[in-house]
Amino acid sequence: MKKEHIITLPNPHLRQKSSKVSRGDSSLHQLINNMISATLDWEKSRPHEIGAALAAVQIDDLRRVIIVRSDFDNKDSKDFTVLINPKIIKGEGGIMYDHEGCLSVQGVYGLVPRYAKVRVKAFDEAGGEVRIKAEGFLARVLQHEIDHLSGTLFVDYIKNQTDAFFHLNETGELIGLDYDEHIAQNSILWD
Ligand code: CO
Repeated sequence: MKKEHIITLPNPHLRQKSSKVSRGDSSLHQLINNMISATLDWEKSRPHEIGAALAAVQIDDLRRVIIVRSDFDNKDSKDFTVLINPKIIKGEGGIMYDHEGCLSVQGVYGLVPRYAKVRVKAFDEAGGEVRIKAEGFLARVLQHEIDHLSGTLFVDYIKNQTDAFFHLNETGELIGLDYDEHIAQNSILWD
């Protein structure tokens, strides 16, 4: 798949809840390949960004599947971890704020509160149980992607925060967006 297959706001499917997948469902293989190819195609045209992760809903498939990059710092490494029916079983370590973007939210970054650490339970493509203890950027990415499966986007956490929205300029710097002008009444972001 190509980057054009990634759906973006205001597509209402992004606000829907994804459905559980049965264990060892072999039809997931194609879905996972499509998610990876769409993510890699997206980042090809983005000099300052990496496709860190994707949820199936972002290619318009409402099954509870996410893929997460194995190495966020190296665009040449194209390996992803697949998590099926992922669930946050514990959030801990306090709340941290950091910048976040989303392939389905074009042109807007946010300063988003997340748990510093999470424990996640899921299963892998073969149906085996996976447990992850994560912190830092990986913990953030997991919370962001698992939110997609409930129809929640990062902008929903900061909706009323006037100083939490940014855009990326041509040199890869995050620049604050004027809330009243670009965010408050933005019909793409809000229903
Ligand atoms: Co996202």
